[in-house]
Amino acid sequence: MVNERCIGIFDSGYGGLTILDGIRQRMPEYDYIYLGDNARAPYGTRSFDVVYEFTLQAVKKLFEMNCPLVILGCNTASAKALRSIQQKYLPQYAPDRRVLGVIRPTAEVVGDISCTKHIGVLATEGTIKSESYKLEIEKLHPDCTIVGQSCPMWVPLVENNEFDKPGADYFVKDSLEKLLSQDPLIDTIILGCTHYPLLLPKIKQQLVQLSTLNSQLSTLKVIPQGHYIATSLEDYLRRHPEMDQRLTRGGTCQYLTTESATKFRENASLFLHEEVNVQHITLN
Ligand code: DGL
Repeated sequence: MVNERCIGIFDSGYGGLTILDGIRQRMPEYDYIYLGDNARAPYGTRSFDVVYEFTLQAVKKLFEMNCPLVILGCNTASAKALRSIQQKYLPQYAPDRRVLGVIRPTAEVVGDISCTKHIGVLATEGTIKSESYKLEIEKLHPDCTIVGQSCPMWVPLVENNEFDKPGADYFVKDSLEKLLSQDPLIDTIILGCTHYPLLLPKIKQQLVQLSTLNSQLSTLKVIPQGHYIATSLEDYLRRHPEMDQRLTRGGTCQYLTTESATKFRENASLFLHEEVNVQHITLN
C-alpha cells in the first residue's frame, strides 16, 4: 500500500464512515484509507488543543501512508483543528500535501437549500461552541440566520449501537425541540456531525410527530453531509488536476483504527453493510 497514493479520510470514530460512503459512491475508482481514532473518541467535548494534537497525529499518520490529500471527515476536527493545520503545519512541514474539512462544503450549499434563510445546526458541543458553521454560513450567505444546538447524547447512542432502539427517541426529540424553540422560522437543519445520519429515521419520525402540533415542520429539510462532501471533493479534484494526477485508482479501501480491529470490523458494518479490511494502529 505504501507506493499507492490514496485519499485519506479521518474521523474520531465511526461517524466519518458516512462521509467515506458518500465519497465512494460518487468516486469509487480512487483508493482510500480511512482512519478512526476510536480509542480516543468522542472528540466532541475535548478542548481545542487536544483536538488539534490528536487530529495532527492522525494527519501525519495518513501522510506517512502516502496520502497526498486528507479529508477531515469529522466536524469537530474540522471546527477545531483544520485552520491551524492548514495555516501553521502544512506550509512548514508538508507544503505538497492538502487537508480539507467538511464544514465549508456544507456551508456552501445550505444557503441555497433554505427558503426562509433560517438554518438550524445540530452538532457536538465542540462544533457548536466553535461557532464554525455560523461564521462560515454567514460569510457565504449574509442573508441567513443560524442557530445551533448541541446533542450530547447522540454520538454515544451511535457509538454504542443504541441509535435505532426506543431509548434513543427521548434524546432525539429533546434536542430537536431545543433547536426548533430557538427559531420558529427554521426550514433547514444541518446534521453537523458525521454520526447523526444514522439517527435520520428517528429524526424524521420525531419531526412527523412534532408537525401534528406545527404544520410548518412537515416541509422542514434535514441535510446529512455525505453527498455534499463528495460533490465538493469531486469539484476540488477537477480544479486541482496536479493533485488528481497524484491519486491512484484501484478502487480499494483500507481501514485503520486505534481501537481493536475486531470491534471496528463489527461496528463498521452498521455504517457500511460490508466486510472491511482493518488494521490496528497507535497514534502519538
Ligand atoms: N465525528 C464527530 C463529528 O463529526 C463526532 C464524534 C465525536 O464527538 O468524536 O463532530
